[in-house]
Amino acid sequence: MVDVAINAMSDWAANGSNANTGGFFPAADACDALLDSTRTVVGEFLGADASGICLGANMTTMTMAFTRAVARTLTSDDRVVGTQLDHEANVSPWRIACELSGAEHVLTPFDVKTGRLDMDAFEKLVDDRTKWVAVTGASNLIGTMPDLETVIAIAHKHGARVFVDAVALAPHKQINIRELGCDVLATSPYKWYGPHAGVMYIEPQLLNSLPIAKVRAASETGPRKFETGTPNFESIAAVQAAARFLIEEDMQQLAKIEGDLFAPLLEGLLDTPGITVWGPHDLASRAPTVSFTVDSMTTDRVAQELAAKKIAVWSGDSYAMEIVQRLGLTNSGGVVRAGIARYVDSEDVKHLLTTVRGLVSR
Ligand SMILES: Cc1ncc(COP(=O)(O)O)c(C=O)c1O
Repeated sequence: MVDVAINAMSDWAANGSNANTGGFFPAADACDALLDSTRTVVGEFLGADASGICLGANMTTMTMAFTRAVARTLTSDDRVVGTQLDHEANVSPWRIACELSGAEHVLTPFDVKTGRLDMDAFEKLVDDRTKWVAVTGASNLIGTMPDLETVIAIAHKHGARVFVDAVALAPHKQINIRELGCDVLATSPYKWYGPHAGVMYIEPQLLNSLPIAKVRAASETGPRKFETGTPNFESIAAVQAAARFLIEEDMQQLAKIEGDLFAPLLEGLLDTPGITVWGPHDLASRAPTVSFTVDSMTTDRVAQELAAKKIAVWSGDSYAMEIVQRLGLTNSGGVVRAGIARYVDSEDVKHLLTTVRGLVSR
């Protein structure tokens, strides 16, 4: 978490204004004002109408609640199209919604060699029965950024709505929901230097009409319809501060810094014999995230060896189960994933490459 977000959280908790919404006294007014101002700042960060910004626990929990509502609108004549590039948090909730409603759930494949979404297959899968397309903005495992503009255009042509999982996209690329025109977009502030929380933009008319499970006393319209129970105000104060921080940092600037660090990382791994890089081998339309395996070593072992040198990487599937399955790596322990964030520098990249090369030459 960035300092300004940590401070915002503790300042909120310490300032004596932590009551609840909807009262006639200052501590209640402060809670209303915090929700309003956070929706405004996060709306600015995501290029979205603030009245569609919902605040919650995390992406998975919010997506489960969202798809539970969608399930009530689906029938056995309907179809939901997802992708094999997606994290389980944008696969399982839709699968469950389809099981509940009898709708069909299909996943668009990706090209194993290039790591890119198979757009021809996607176009064939989206038909007039398709009510929802669930797509990732960036793969959390291999970094691929699907062409969202085209995905959304194809879906909307058939009258389908689009749900974008932007958890692995938002930390790395400027998002503009108005320009994209997606119906829903989910992101996790803890991936963009904020607190453990979730943010979901739901197009306001959809939000108002969707049969969301809620208590009778809760609002019938707007974000409070979707935000069950008492908001996590401390965390929301920090979400706002993190969004402000990124607006000030400038996402385009940040993407450039990350890109400059990522290029030598990718190139270095590709140039190392005994290492296989999975997913795109190029720098276009991707997040600065790379997955690899070391031919002579299990992925857990690689992660342990790197951890011993103070390098934090993940091993396994990182919940991108469909990708790992399609790559045929499920039984061999998945991949090792490394990525660039704002606090990584070129020395870190060199250290990782030297350490990995040391493992290969053993
Ligand atoms: C691409 C992607 N989607 C969804 C999630 C789930 O997010 P959350 O932890 O907020 O539920 C993650 C978490 O790592 C992710 O990387």
